[in-house]
Amino acid sequence: MRSDPNSPTFVCDGYECHWQMTRIEKIAFHTLIKKIAPKNALEIGTYKGGSLQILSEFSEHVYSMDITDEPKKNLSHLYTNVDFIVGDSKKYLPDFLTNLQKEGKGLDFILIDGDHSASGVRTDINNILKYYVPQSELFIICHDSFNPGCRRGIVEAEWADCPYVDMVEVDFVPGVYHYEAFDTAEARSMWGGFALARLMPEKRQEPLTVHQSQQGLFNAVYKDSTSG
Ligand SMILES: C[S@@+](CC[C@H](N)C(=O)[O-])C[C@H]1O[C@@H](n2cnc3c(N)ncnc32)[C@H](O)[C@@H]1O
Repeated sequence: MRSDPNSPTFVCDGYECHWQMTRIEKIAFHTLIKKIAPKNALEIGTYKGGSLQILSEFSEHVYSMDITDEPKKNLSHLYTNVDFIVGDSKKYLPDFLTNLQKEGKGLDFILIDGDHSASGVRTDINNILKYYVPQSELFIICHDSFNPGCRRGIVEAEWADCPYVDMVEVDFVPGVYHYEAFDTAEARSMWGGFALARLMPEKRQEPLTVHQSQQGLFNAVYKDSTSG
């Protein structure tokens, strides 16, 4: 069985850095980031620079955070508009967000793609909701919303307690089932998927619903998966 869900894209094939997203995610990411054209973007989880190459191209400035120093060592010569931050997002995000706002800067886009455990994802989201007050529209993508642990972290995060959140769709882009082992994914595992959230500077008037439009697909695939 040929289970490569990544190529060809016919849209993003020219980007050279190894990119841990599926073909449809790459196309969606390219389209979204080009449309948002962030003044400032933040990504948690640089890895080999896959998503960073798009963020760097379409953003004025990017902050890219990774727990290891490999991305900074290997990629910093490629980009003039990227600050590489080495550290654990769980520890560094509160200070980073506080200091950024003290400098009068905001964020238009955040990619959460670092610690994929339920508690890691939940902590990243909750820190953003707690320490960042949007002065303009902010989009957040949480990658791997189809992975059961990540999904749990995303769904359990305190979205509804933050009055600036006006939309959350856990299955904005649905994920994939790796019947065979692929890249760093085990056989019969569930990965990929974009959860998309939007924060606005105005407070929400209505209660928030965290939409999971493909929960039926998730449940059906989960029965045949080894993902916990
Ligand atoms: C799935 S990869 C990111 C893929 C990349 N965004 C792409 O599109 O190709 C996850 C990265 O997150 C980093 N990471 C894991 N836990 C982290 C944490 N607590 N804080 C910051 N980075 C973390 C890992 O070192 C790894 O490089």
